[in-house]
Amino acid sequence: MAIDYTTIKTPAYLYDLGLLQQTLNFVKKEADAFDYHVHYALKANNNPKILELISEKGFGADCVSGNEVEEALKRGFKKEEIAFAGVGKTDDEINFALENDIFSFNCESLPEIEVINELAFKKQKIAPLALRINPNVDANTHKYITTGLDENKFGISLWELESILDRMKAMKNVQLKGLHFHIGSQITDLDTFKNLCNRINQIQEQFYARQIIVEHINVGGGLGINYHQPDEEPMSNFKSYFKIFNDFLELRPMQQLHFELGRSIVGQMGSLLSKVIYVKKASAKSFLIIDAAMTDLIRPSLYQAFHKIENLSSNGEDQEKYDVVGPVCESSDIFAKSVTLPSSKRGDYILIRSAGAYGQVMASNYNMRDNAQVVFIG
Ligand code: LLP
Repeated sequence: MAIDYTTIKTPAYLYDLGLLQQTLNFVKKEADAFDYHVHYALKANNNPKILELISEKGFGADCVSGNEVEEALKRGFKKEEIAFAGVGKTDDEINFALENDIFSFNCESLPEIEVINELAFKKQKIAPLALRINPNVDANTHKYITTGLDENKFGISLWELESILDRMKAMKNVQLKGLHFHIGSQITDLDTFKNLCNRINQIQEQFYARQIIVEHINVGGGLGINYHQPDEEPMSNFKSYFKIFNDFLELRPMQQLHFELGRSIVGQMGSLLSKVIYVKKASAKSFLIIDAAMTDLIRPSLYQAFHKIENLSSNGEDQEKYDVVGPVCESSDIFAKSVTLPSSKRGDYILIRSAGAYGQVMASNYNMRDNAQVVFIG
């Protein structure tokens, strides 16, 4: 990245559009090889320019609020390629999605299905539904981003499936089109997806026994990225990922397979640029106090997530251990503890890597802090 950082007002999100294009081309090629449909999960990063680049490549959208559905439409995603998920869709959001004839409502409970049926009846429409089934498969990831276990709030449990299908028989304004699964995020052990495929095969048998073959299976997202070595692995292993589904998932004839990828598409193209405000020596350690904070990137505070940190201003001859922290009045405003960095001084530029997904979108203005600005590079 040949860029003059010293001209940029920090903190700033740097988005490498070259890497984004490369990633999109790669995902598209690998997915097209199997005729798979990829929806981009807007929740990971909803920068307008990024959304436009993604929609131009022909990806669908995965939305979790009415505002995301509206934004997806505004940024060029086709309505018939928009999936709408979420455990708590409001009437207004459902009505908006109904008016726009989206691809699928991914439903998470019987009360939700009943409300969609009622609202669709009022509009004289038939809402396309996918049932989000909780497959009880462990994603082996952080507990806050695990979603496919019985103990999580997401999806319909297997034990209530039969009664929901019975109740749906009487509903005239919803149509069962698909089955939806999502077991969690930042999954790096690809065997986890094999387990998901095997479970979906069993569940499909259960539907088959009731003579139900849905048009599509949606396996959600979750493919992880390499936070420790972003330069060595700027793109996730999409080839092996899609191949697992091709090898292990038993699709019925004509059944389409859909994915909802977020982090693996935008994670590595973003970095958070910051400047050292002070180096504070304490008795046991040194603190690098930088001008980015948990208000710009909350992942380390919230999930103890690792992000690689680099000092761009130092040649790295002498090294020191630092706690890299932000200025916010919370002890949890920490980016990394005891990290070894080149000896750093006030004014040095610090780069926090792999921040393109769930970074800027989770920002807040706590402490009345300004939002980080966005700079496109690459
Ligand atoms: N589909 C559904 C139903 C989801 O809930 C999610 C993410 C995705 C797709 C996209 O998953 P991805 O491919 O990005 O893993 N804020 C957390 C991540 C939360 C993920 C929420 N759901 C983080 O910073 O790690």
